[in-house]
Amino acid sequence: MKTRVLGISGSPRMSSNTSILVEVALQSAEEVGAKTEFLELADLNIGACEHCSECSKLGRCKLDDDLNKIANTMKVADAIILGSPVHYASVSTPMKNLMDRTGRFLHLEGKIGAGIVVGRRSGTDLVLTHLQFYLFVKEMIIPGNVNWPVGFALNPGDIRADTEAIFMATQLGNRVATLASILVRNPVPWSHEPRPLDKKVRFGDEWK
Ligand SMILES: Cc1cc2nc3c(=O)[nH]c(=O)nc-3n(C[C@H](O)[C@H](O)[C@H](O)COP(=O)(O)O)c2cc1C
Repeated sequence: MKTRVLGISGSPRMSSNTSILVEVALQSAEEVGAKTEFLELADLNIGACEHCSECSKLGRCKLDDDLNKIANTMKVADAIILGSPVHYASVSTPMKNLMDRTGRFLHLEGKIGAGIVVGRRSGTDLVLTHLQFYLFVKEMIIPGNVNWPVGFALNPGDIRADTEAIFMATQLGNRVATLASILVRNPVPWSHEPRPLDKKVRFGDEWK
């Protein structure tokens, strides 16, 4: 069975710089045998989280927009690449809504995850960190790259001139797909069970 790598572009505009970099990564993933799927949040409707906490009980969001369909696609992926443009040193609003709305009910532990960011000049590292914090608390595994997978561009298409960013995205896609294919064959026995935090362990106690 082929490894499934999902790429999500969080730009609010279509055919954006972020989309181009995510697609470069997906193409690279395909070159090492992965099956890929690409979603542009600009084409989908995701409102803001209302913090009703219903999702903890329902296992989905109660709001009736595209979020649950996206979450289902994420659930069946073996690896997920999240791309976001820099918007005032933060992730884009659609990406933030996706992160907030999937925060409580979507379990992605043991899958491979990676972030890709495009900014014009500043804030790329902050946004990459933000994406990676999400992947991290989702208990996903983030592969390393020789440099941060970020690019610099203003108008749609400009990112093609950032050859280093294209290289980073290519390397990232390759590593994400390669790692995912190994984990598909050897799944990590991650558990949904919370770790027992009630027992106090003092320094020097034996590990049980
Ligand atoms: C609302 C808004 C805020 C932005 N803030 C920043 C910023 O803080 N730092 C930066 O370098 N670029 C900023 N930009 C520029 C975009 O990151 C840049 O144009 C990028 O190429 C957009 O990616 P996209 O084509 O994938 O949408 C901002 C753009 C918008 C629309």
